[in-house]
Amino acid sequence: MDPKITKADEEIQKIISKKRLKSVEDRRVGSEIFDEQTLKTLYKLANHGYLTVLNGAISTGKEANVLKGIHEDDSRVDSFVAVKIYRIATSDFKKMQYYIQGDPRFNVKSNNKRQLITSWVNKEYRNLLRAHEVDVNVPKPIIAMNNVLLLEFIGDDLGNPAQTVKNQPPIDVDEFLNKLLIEMNKFINEANLVHGDLSTFNILNKDEKPVIIDVSQSVVRDHPIANDLLIRDINTIFKEFKKMGASADLEEIKAALNLDIDLTT
Ligand SMILES: Nc1ncnc2c1ncn2[C@@H]1O[C@H](COP(=O)(O)OP(=O)(O)OP(=O)(O)O)[C@@H](O)[C@H]1O
Ligand SMILES: [Mg+2]
Repeated sequence: MDPKITKADEEIQKIISKKRLKSVEDRRVGSEIFDEQTLKTLYKLANHGYLTVLNGAISTGKEANVLKGIHEDDSRVDSFVAVKIYRIATSDFKKMQYYIQGDPRFNVKSNNKRQLITSWVNKEYRNLLRAHEVDVNVPKPIIAMNNVLLLEFIGDDLGNPAQTVKNQPPIDVDEFLNKLLIEMNKFINEANLVHGDLSTFNILNKDEKPVIIDVSQSVVRDHPIANDLLIRDINTIFKEFKKMGASADLEEIKAALNLDIDLTT
């Protein structure tokens, strides 16, 4: 396993292994991975009943750690959840500001980093909800609080997370691409969003069906940078799927997305 993930796992085990998150004693556990505010937010989520157990890291990236947690629903049935935690220290604020500016849904004027992250996490929540509402295959968002986002866990019943398409290329590339184009069509034309970082890194392969993730940077279609992002996304998908052996050409992809734009970059 990636040493960063092993390290994160040890940290989480320190925080939770013996008891449930609700325990007051847990508060004293020091953490290199989580800062004070992140720990507080996790406890708050636990106290509000959104999270009962945190058990292991799925991914430790540049800006966010994704962990697996357990969530108890209203009928007291446990299910896995994904817990995406933005790291305040390593977040790219320039990028966040660039994407948030011009989005009519957000009015972030301040340079306060925490506020910017909170808006960023909120943006990911709202983008997921918007896509979920028109039936795009995305993880259903549960709640956003400060720098933490809880979302539906994509994986099997045993808690094994689905792999990215990058790590687990589809068995039938053409069929998978067709399914992806249906999801992208809804994302673009019904949710009216542009992903902005679409690639095989941000699409999970869940039993040979695509699940689109990582939508914090996604923008509404009338955002000034939306068209440039859309053209880039489509070209990336075209190139990456071509490499995996897909037979579709760019014109076919454009047609499947009902788009009438010039895709040359
Ligand atoms: N809902 C989910 N269910 C299961 N696994 C998930 C889920 N969301 C994310 N992951 C896993 O976590 C990884 C990182 O998630 P995501 O792409 O959303 O974060 P990121 O913003 O790319 O993080 P960074 O840029 O810091 O690497 C994914 O590649 C996937 O393996
Ligand atoms: Mg990602």
